[in-house]
Amino acid sequence: MSQQPIRIAPSVLSADFARLGEEVRAIDAAGADYIHLDVMDGHFVPNLTIGPSVVKALRPFSDKPFDVHLMVSPADSWLKAFADAGADILTVHPEAGPHLHRTLQQIRSLGRRAGVALNPATPATFIEPVLDMVDLVLVMTVNPGFGGQRFIESQLPKINAVRRLIDLTGRRIDLEVDGGITPATAPDAIAAGADVLVAGTASFKGGAAQYAANIAALRGGS
Ligand code: DX5
Ligand code: ZN
Repeated sequence: MSQQPIRIAPSVLSADFARLGEEVRAIDAAGADYIHLDVMDGHFVPNLTIGPSVVKALRPFSDKPFDVHLMVSPADSWLKAFADAGADILTVHPEAGPHLHRTLQQIRSLGRRAGVALNPATPATFIEPVLDMVDLVLVMTVNPGFGGQRFIESQLPKINAVRRLIDLTGRRIDLEVDGGITPATAPDAIAAGADVLVAGTASFKGGAAQYAANIAALRGGS
């Protein structure tokens, strides 16, 4: 399956955490395609964020797919809780271990879409043996853990390599990029083959009145 229409997945990490429900409602109304939720455990990555109870609390605020990015190690014991909380997509990092294939089997058996995230130092070929089980590949364009970091340009050839692997399957697999995505960097990511853009800082800057313009700028890439 070749590149699909561009979809924008605002990362709630950059929203106002004191008003998270309203923020999810506002970013949905502004044109978000997915709601990206970053789950961090203070162990796999050096930051702590939200658990399944927050995801469940946010579920009534949007009908858009909840794109849950699990930066937790190990992830397996959390999968059901996040699926029950309302996650539509569950994305895991292979380094979170211990058995990626088993983790993907579990996500699929829960009836959720399965994603694999590739850190900047993880090669594209890592996903080859499990691509038949994957609905989304996430290429990290920063090291996971924090919003507001700078886009790592050296990941562009890897995005392109993942694009070619996906196209060979003929299946509908999202190619998502995450980290440092702005109207300035989005065109390069799209040209390399990405079709889902995660953006935290660039989606939520300027307050709710700006959200629609922020998303339009990411989609248009200018
Ligand atoms: C980083 C997270 C990202 C982050 C992106 O570990 O996975 O989703 O929120 O933030 P920006 O768009 O600000 O780089
Ligand atoms: Zn993320």
